[in-house]
Amino acid sequence: MRTAPETDLAAPEPAPEPAPDLETAEGLLARYDEVRGYTELLAAPLSPEDQTVQSMPDVSPTKWHRAHVTWFFETFLLAEHESGFAPFQDQYWFLFNSYYEAVGPRYSRPLRGVISRPGAHDVGLYRRNVDDRLRDLVARSDDGTLAKLRPLMELGFHHEQQHQELLLMDIKHVLSLNPLQPVYAGRPAPGPAGGPGEPDPLGWVGFEGGLVEIGHRSEAFCFDNELPLHQQWLPPYRLADRLVTNGEWLAFIADGGYRRPELWLSDGWARVQAEGWEAPFYWRETDGVWHEHTLHGTVVLDPAAPVCHVSHYEADAYATWAGKRLPTEAEWEHAARIAEADAGPANLADLETFHPRPAGAPGSLRQLFGDCWEWTASAYLPYPGFRPAAGAIGEYNGKFMSNQMVLRGGCALTPPGHTRATYRNFFPPGARWPLTGVRLADGGAA
Ligand SMILES: [Fe+2]
Repeated sequence: MRTAPETDLAAPEPAPEPAPDLETAEGLLARYDEVRGYTELLAAPLSPEDQTVQSMPDVSPTKWHRAHVTWFFETFLLAEHESGFAPFQDQYWFLFNSYYEAVGPRYSRPLRGVISRPGAHDVGLYRRNVDDRLRDLVARSDDGTLAKLRPLMELGFHHEQQHQELLLMDIKHVLSLNPLQPVYAGRPAPGPAGGPGEPDPLGWVGFEGGLVEIGHRSEAFCFDNELPLHQQWLPPYRLADRLVTNGEWLAFIADGGYRRPELWLSDGWARVQAEGWEAPFYWRETDGVWHEHTLHGTVVLDPAAPVCHVSHYEADAYATWAGKRLPTEAEWEHAARIAEADAGPANLADLETFHPRPAGAPGSLRQLFGDCWEWTASAYLPYPGFRPAAGAIGEYNGKFMSNQMVLRGGCALTPPGHTRATYRNFFPPGARWPLTGVRLADGGAA
């Protein structure tokens, strides 16, 4: 890896608020209130009507997200540990179970948008009821019970954070179909120069590779799919020091990128033809000018900003066109571990740009933990020795290890505190509604 820039010791960041101590009941409840409150903050700009719409099968209504994350705490904590437990509403168990076969039957996912009741207000009552009971349970628990609750509560926090990101991705699609071009919130995401500009030159960072350790290795929280820690052999490789830009993608389009089958995987080319793909998901050409739909409105395309809302198929075709390839997830993780100390502040949801922004000044790897989830060349598979947890909670990740590709990093809709070098996100290769982007790689053996 090339030499990292020196740290600017003259301008220290203000000290962040100390994180709650999750070893104590008070700390657990403080974190619970933070996470639950952030979901409601994200939903606050949305009317009950906004919160009811399901614009396609992959998208869930906002109020469904708010209810489902509540169901998760009710099912995996209250039902197991609250004395005299009874569901808030019997039918909510059916309506707000997402995919847990062991918990019981569930309502059809593609039809979530036809459920007008409970409305957004009643979902708020459900949330408050479960919040009150959960707080009471934790406050009354002895140390032994608290030790059982802690890992489930932490899983519930991270689960709700995943749905916070999905809530934003989903409402973005809902609003994109409205010809009034409604704005969710947030503000435009100017680049370092304060507005649209020319793409920054692409740099490359080399890594020696070798026998490296992949997977989570500390006592801090991780999902089960980040385990076990294991070794992999990586030949020397390079990663692009930033994401592919809109300007570069325009060159791909101008060179016939969406019309040349030799650039595409067979399944990808079939989707191009079947769905008429000619540009990224939210791009629209009006009077010869490219625009893109964002959560803060429809804007003229910034050539310096990262291209986003492209499928794995498009990312792979672009890499082929560029004479490069996508990184493997092991390469990405190995590089991120080395470079994360120099990565700088990430463009996550707390900045409220809700959109990727141009890369900052060259240095180490830029845009690692924010802006866009980065497609990798790796299929989503279990690590050697992976064992899902026993019971219903074991359905969380493992059963999706088929026909999906791994993405790494995080995006401008990811809550702060929800990124790490070992985090394995995954989506089907044709998905375009998630906030995804492209980082190129070369060298190595992939
Ligand atoms: Fe979920």
